[in-house]
Amino acid sequence: MTQPANSPETPSPEHADSLAQIGVVGMAVMGSNLARNFVSKGHTVAIYNRSPEKTRAVMEQHGHEGAFIPSETIEDFVASLERPRKAIIMVQAGPATDAVIDQLAAAMDEGDIIIDGGNALFTDTIRRERDVAARGRHFVGAGISGGEEGALNGPSIMPGGPAESWETLGPLLEDISAKVDGEPCVTHIGPDGAGHFVKMVHNGIEYADMQVIGEAYHLLRYAAGIEPAELADIFSEWNEGDLDSYLIEITAEVLRQKDARTGQPFIDVIVDAAGQKGTGRWTVKEALDLGVPVTGIGEAVFARALSSALAQREAAQNIGLPAGDTTTLEALGIERDAFVEDVRRALYASKLVAYAQGFDEINAGSQEYGWGVQPGDLARIWRGGCIIRAKFLNRITEAYERDPELPSLLLDPYFKAELEKGLVDSWRRVVVTATQLGLPVPVFASSLSYYDSLRAKRLPAALIQGQRDFFGAHTYRRVDMEGTFHTAWSGDREELSY
Ligand code: ATR
Repeated sequence: MTQPANSPETPSPEHADSLAQIGVVGMAVMGSNLARNFVSKGHTVAIYNRSPEKTRAVMEQHGHEGAFIPSETIEDFVASLERPRKAIIMVQAGPATDAVIDQLAAAMDEGDIIIDGGNALFTDTIRRERDVAARGRHFVGAGISGGEEGALNGPSIMPGGPAESWETLGPLLEDISAKVDGEPCVTHIGPDGAGHFVKMVHNGIEYADMQVIGEAYHLLRYAAGIEPAELADIFSEWNEGDLDSYLIEITAEVLRQKDARTGQPFIDVIVDAAGQKGTGRWTVKEALDLGVPVTGIGEAVFARALSSALAQREAAQNIGLPAGDTTTLEALGIERDAFVEDVRRALYASKLVAYAQGFDEINAGSQEYGWGVQPGDLARIWRGGCIIRAKFLNRITEAYERDPELPSLLLDPYFKAELEKGLVDSWRRVVVTATQLGLPVPVFASSLSYYDSLRAKRLPAALIQGQRDFFGAHTYRRVDMEGTFHTAWSGDREELSY
């Protein structure tokens, strides 16, 4: 009998004296880092990649780190797993994932568990779960956040799928997840596509969070004229307070960086066209279907699209579209340090709106698909490991502990008081100033409008109902009595009730 392999040679799995507790398919960076994370926690881990060179490379570079069982065929890989077998797929999303699921399901037995750790669209996860369940195997769509570093040292994990699978899988995922105050950043989110849905919205929130930081940077740089090195210090200082988060921390790092080739601030040599892989877009598309206004996330996705419309942007610059009043902060009578603090508060308030909207979408999705997602659990498991990890998530956890049925995060007593205590006044001043200077603040501005819409006693929707009834007899309801009404606009304007 051989020991689990920790050398480049591949042992025959049938002869390994201890089988693997878990397996990982796909030895690109995320997959290999996840496998290394498992072995670092003392687990024996089976690994497999379509091209065997990648598996061999992992063994050469990291085989000494622990008990890997490498395989060069999917059958050997499956044979090297302890029952019920548990295999995490970390391959390219889409058809590659379907192909691997099919191979695994064919080689596995009843009750074995296939986990998709990629960024799958939750409706694909629902379909895959149904298909895999029909073949007598379990399927768990698990969102994994934290990038390469998180996969290696502790990600935040959002698994969906059957509760029964969580019982077997849970302890393993808890071992490799990030920990905050001793609590693992993983929990069973809900059945079938719940995990991937929540991961999708997590990424949507991430888009908005990055965009509001971007808007703050842009204002401080181009309204207040603060150079990147000093901005790095400002962001580092912000990272000590309410905004303490991974994204603020790395913002300071990026702004502090000097370009080695030119000596310029690194930020100035990067083309200002933001890419996207699709999870932000999915969040917004699904929100449209669910009828949930995720305006901050929507504006953040559109801001990336606009930034990448380089031909249009160039054409607009060439024809010299008039900007706003090209006055300076001084000309507006605004003192620099006060403006910096106002921008910090506007960022905090806009970020709060993005989270409130994201949680609204999760609640709506959970209701639509019958998942029973607990929003407070999400804030708890996002406190560590993931890209949006932030001190602020403790406040959200507390908000949902106070009231699990909270109608909006903005209505939690703590956040409501924060907003009223001064955030809103700063936020308004910043949006006004940005508009006067002609500097774009799509998420700051739309989030403020959302906040004002939410708390408004009356909305212009009454007029829209009147217009709809006028041109299309779409009917309206009255404020003073029950029922549905229509006014005979083209006739005697008598009101008819239905
Ligand atoms: P990254 O961006 O980190 O490189 P990715 O493109 O999302 O990762 O996924 C790459 C992984 O998917 C690789 O392990 C790749 O296997 P190869 O090394 O053999 O290319 C795997 N992959 C892609 N298509 C696959 C398929 N049809 N079947 C199995 N694995 C596949």
